[in-house]
Amino acid sequence: MKEFRVGLLGFGNVMQAFVSHYLSISERIKSFGFSLRFVAYCDTTQYVYDQNLDIQSALEMKKSNTVRRKAKTPLEQFTSLVQERGVDILIDGLPSAKTDAGPSYPLLCEALKKKITVISVNKAPLVFKGGELFSLARQYKTDLRISGTTAGCLPTSGLVMNELVGSQILSVRGILNGTSNYVLDRMMFDRLSCEEAAQKAVELGIAEPDYRFDLDGTDTCFKMIILGLVITGKAVRPQDVACQGILDLDPRYVQRIVSQEKVIRLLGTLTVTNNAPEISVGPQVLDRSDQLFAVCGTGKGLTFQTLYMGDLTVIGGSSGRTNIAATIMKDIINACTV
Ligand SMILES: NC(=O)c1ccc[n+]([C@@H]2O[C@H](COP(=O)([O-])OP(=O)(O)OC[C@H]3O[C@@H](n4cnc5c(N)ncnc54)[C@H](OP(=O)(O)O)[C@@H]3O)[C@@H](O)[C@H]2O)c1
Repeated sequence: MKEFRVGLLGFGNVMQAFVSHYLSISERIKSFGFSLRFVAYCDTTQYVYDQNLDIQSALEMKKSNTVRRKAKTPLEQFTSLVQERGVDILIDGLPSAKTDAGPSYPLLCEALKKKITVISVNKAPLVFKGGELFSLARQYKTDLRISGTTAGCLPTSGLVMNELVGSQILSVRGILNGTSNYVLDRMMFDRLSCEEAAQKAVELGIAEPDYRFDLDGTDTCFKMIILGLVITGKAVRPQDVACQGILDLDPRYVQRIVSQEKVIRLLGTLTVTNNAPEISVGPQVLDRSDQLFAVCGTGKGLTFQTLYMGDLTVIGGSSGRTNIAATIMKDIINACTV
């Protein structure tokens, strides 16, 4: 039975959910021929490294806000561990930076060079430096897995890299942000304003306290950029995406759409011309004949148009703690069983 040592960049909601999920199914994971040993984590105030780390008690301490080992520059402390190849798998669970690859980027590069498997749920390194990261992964023959960056547990990048490989993807259209989809539901069917619906989403724990990133279209834009990169190898710059969110939608306009038995959804659209992706994001009106008409609540959906395999629509992948934890687990299983 192989054992892989894991380091966690960030120990917030997603990383905690992942650790809990792994601990609850670790016996079943052994059927894949491996187990995990968590040896290091950091957050904004602490860096913990211990080859005999008790991750269950670390989780409980984190939940009770107990700082275990205070550090001045927790993220930088990871550097020597990575350089010495003290972990086999590094998971990036930091919040996504908005305008650059963010602070974890140098560490991810270093890890790939050291043949440490990198799993990222953090979008920024992929959006702003994804080309460089994939190129390093190829050069050093290291695994870089990013399922959690494109739409949580909805199969997206995995479909592109596996089931649709060689199919020549011509376009992708999708609802990739569960929060904005939920907010649009409440605007359409409960006649709430965007602000009221967003507050409801925060109260229910569906949205982050700062939900602008979701509702202004940036999150969808980032996910489409990453998909474009996976499909073509080229990353569109965020400033080159025509991006409109749903924050300014007029509730009267929304009600008119509903009275016509149509729905309004925040859609990302990607077209591939001469192997170059072009992306736009904005609200679109869908009628019943649209494959994505049925995507409601915090659900997501994507339609791929391909030259050789026809069209494919996937729907599902609601946001949730276990869902994103299982998505990270999927990436680890795929990386560890190649
Ligand atoms: N929530 C989902 O369902 C979901 C789905 C797909 C992808 N994602 C992505 O997953 C990532 C994590 O989301 P989350 O909900 O877990 O966020 P979160 O709860 O805010 O956790 C972020 C963690 O990163 C730590 N951190 C932030 N800046 C840091 C720095 N400079 N150095 C070291 N640690 C730092 C935070 O430390 P403190 O604990 O000290 O604050 C926290 O532990 C995000 O990129 C998000 O977009 C989330």
